[in-house]
Amino acid sequence: MNRGAVGFFDSGLGGLCILDAFKRECPSESTVYIADSANCPYGNRSAEEIVALSDANVKRLLEAGCKMIVVACNTASAAALEFLRSKYSDVPFVGIEPAIKPAAMESKTGVVGVLATAGTFGGRLYNETKAKFAKNVTVIATVADEFVDLVERGETSGEEAERIVRRKIEPLIAASCDKIVLGCTHFPHLRSLIEKVAAGRAEIIEPSLAVALRAKSVLESRGLANAGGGEAKHVFISTKRGDSR
Ligand code: DGL
Repeated sequence: MNRGAVGFFDSGLGGLCILDAFKRECPSESTVYIADSANCPYGNRSAEEIVALSDANVKRLLEAGCKMIVVACNTASAAALEFLRSKYSDVPFVGIEPAIKPAAMESKTGVVGVLATAGTFGGRLYNETKAKFAKNVTVIATVADEFVDLVERGETSGEEAERIVRRKIEPLIAASCDKIVLGCTHFPHLRSLIEKVAAGRAEIIEPSLAVALRAKSVLESRGLANAGGGEAKHVFISTKRGDSR
């Protein structure tokens, strides 16, 4: 079992930022990544649809022999994590949610911006964390579906991308946000543009490394880490027609 791969899935390419962090932290682990780009975006789908799509991704990862699954998508974690944990009760799952806790704790202005999808903002995970850890700050929630499109198109730089990023970030800065949480795994791919626009006026917070470290600690605590060495293999699967590798 320890030589099995760690499975990852996202609605598309977003979760690759978590995969990259994981590969740096756990270089001897093999991975299988599913980019469900044929069904992207997940952000505005119903919870039932996201559960069904997540279930299909998990089945495929388990058929590929995965020993643990990282739901590398905030929207899928919000809608489907509970369902997946109860359906596949012997499989460890690691999910992701917007890093609102550190943002709220470290904010000096008392105003925090969160960028995510409608699905994430509507989910219990986000709302419970917000109620628990962000009681004393003002949270400005902004849906930024346009960022998902940019990343899926591979357009992470250039004038048009900068204009779209500016339109979402400037209002947050104008509202005194000094922390901006990237609550969708597609958004770190636009990090250099977001930082250029925020230009020292707000700190960008995103949890890829924290999720990778959590995955590492779950592997270790469950005795699933690949201690035996051997070369790690990495498989990337895209559900987009003509794009499977
Ligand atoms: N990458 C996904 C997330 O973290 C969402 C993108 C989408 O709308 O499909 O929420």
